[in-house]
Amino acid sequence: MKTSAIDGDGVSMECDALVIGLDAEGKLGSSGVKADQSGGGWLSRAIARGDLSGKRGEAVLLPSPLERGPAAFLVVGTGDATAGGSPAGAAFEIGAAAMRRLADRARGEVVFSLSDVITGEANRRNLVCGAVAGTAGQDLYQRERKLHPPASVQFAGFSETSVREGTIVGEAMNLTRRLVNEPACVIYPSSFADEATKLGEACGLEVEVWDESRLEQENCRALLAVGRGSARESRLVKLRYQGAGDDRPPIALVGKGVTFDSGGLSIKPSDGMLTMKCDMAGAATVLGVISAAARLGIKENIVGLVGLAENMVAGDSFKLGDVLHTRSGKTVEVHNTDAEGRLVLADTLDVALEESPRGIVDLATLTGACVVALGVDVCGLFTNNRPLLDSVRRAAGEAGEPVWELPMFDFYAEQIRSKVADIKNVGEGRWGGAITAAKFLEEFVAGTPWVHIDIAGPAFADNPKPMRDAGATGVMVRSLVNLLENG
Ligand code: BES
Ligand code: MN
Ligand code: ZN
Repeated sequence: MKTSAIDGDGVSMECDALVIGLDAEGKLGSSGVKADQSGGGWLSRAIARGDLSGKRGEAVLLPSPLERGPAAFLVVGTGDATAGGSPAGAAFEIGAAAMRRLADRARGEVVFSLSDVITGEANRRNLVCGAVAGTAGQDLYQRERKLHPPASVQFAGFSETSVREGTIVGEAMNLTRRLVNEPACVIYPSSFADEATKLGEACGLEVEVWDESRLEQENCRALLAVGRGSARESRLVKLRYQGAGDDRPPIALVGKGVTFDSGGLSIKPSDGMLTMKCDMAGAATVLGVISAAARLGIKENIVGLVGLAENMVAGDSFKLGDVLHTRSGKTVEVHNTDAEGRLVLADTLDVALEESPRGIVDLATLTGACVVALGVDVCGLFTNNRPLLDSVRRAAGEAGEPVWELPMFDFYAEQIRSKVADIKNVGEGRWGGAITAAKFLEEFVAGTPWVHIDIAGPAFADNPKPMRDAGATGVMVRSLVNLLENG
C-alpha cells in the first residue's frame, strides 16, 4: 500500500472514498461542510436524523449523492476533543477505525481529508500510523482475506514528513503483529532469527545470531534449559543500530521470545495454551521498534536482544527441582517449568549488560498475574530506576497506550529465595506473581537503570475492537519509538 501527502482537501478528487471527520457535537470538518453544501445539506440531514453520532471510532460509509468527486464518503467520528487523554492516541484510533472500515473490500484510491480536525505533526503522524495498522490483521491464512489494503492512501494537507514517519511506525507495528500472529509451526527460534536477519539487511542493522553451540560457549544455560525439550533449537539474536556517536552508551531493548509456551512439564491446560504462540511478542516488539528507529534515523544507539526458545515437553525437558547455572553465575532452582520467560530473560539480560547500556527496557508476556492485576488493556511497569520509569511512562502517555506501575518493595524478593540455590523461579503461592517475576528479573540487571514491561495482557487480544483486529496488537511499539526519540 502506497501512502503519500497531497495538497488541498481532496473534496473534488475522483477517488474511491474520502474520509471526513465528524465530532461528538455533530460538527463536520471543513471538507465535510463543503461536501454537505454541494449536496444540498445531505450530511446535515443524516446528522440531524441521528444516523451519524461522531463518537470516536464510529465509521460510516455513505455513497456520494454528488455527480463528481469522491465515489463515497467515510464519515469517521473524532469524538470529544476536550475529553482528555492523549490526542496522539485518539488520532491513532481515528486513523485505524477509518481504515479498518474501508478495508472490508478492495479499493483503489482512498483520501483522508482531516487536516483541520487533526492538527499538529505528532497527531498527524499517529493518524497515518493508525491507518497503516488498520489494514492488517490476523487473517493470514484465510483463502478470502478479511482485510484489503487500498492501492493508495493519500493524506490531504499533511506534511510529507508526518506521512512518511507515520507509515514507518505503522509498518513496524504490522511487522510485530505479523510475527506474533504467525503460528508456532512457522515462527520458531531459528525462523525468528532468520526474520531478524532479513530485517537487519533491509534496515541497515547489524545482526548477530547465536546458535546452540555459541549459547553453550556463552554459558546461557537457563535459556538452553527452557528450549531443551523442543525439537527446535534455541537462539539469541543481537541487533544493533548506531544512530549516535560511538561513545554514546546504547539503550538496550530486551525481548522475551518464547515462540511457543506449552508450560513444559508444568504443562498448561489446553485453554491456556491455545494462544501461546504469542509468547514471543516481547521479542517481536523489539524487532518492530529497532527497525522503526533505523528507518526514522533516530539519533540514538540501540541494541536489541532477544532470547528465543520453545518451551515443550520431552524426555529431556528441564525438570522441577533442577538447578540452573545462569550466565550471570547465579543459580536458580526450578519450581515451575511454566515460569520459563524469566529464565530466558535472565541470560538475555546478562548479555545486554555486556553492552554497558545507559538503560535497559525489557518487554515480556511474562505473567498471567499481571493480567489479573491490570486487565487486558494495560501494561505493567516495574523498575529499579525512577527517571527511566518516568520517561517510559511519559512516552506511553504521548502515544496514548495505558501503562501502570506496580511496586517493587524489597520484601517481595524474600519470596524467591531458594533452599538449595541462590533463587527459585517462582514466588510463594500465586499472589503478587507479576511482581515476584519482576523481582526475579531485577537479579540479573546488576543495578543498571531498568524498566520491565509486562505485556501479557495487551499483546494479544481475544476480541476485535473498531480500531483493531483481534490477535496481535503491536502494543508498545509506538510508545518505545517515542521513548527513543525523546532521547
Ligand atoms: N507466557 C506465560 C504468561 C502469559 C499468560 C502470557 C497469559 C500471556 C497470556 C508465562 O510463561 C507463564 O506461564 N507464567 C506463569 C507463571 C507462574 C507459573 C509462576 C503464569 O502466569 O501462570
Ligand atoms: Mn510459561
Ligand atoms: Zn511464557
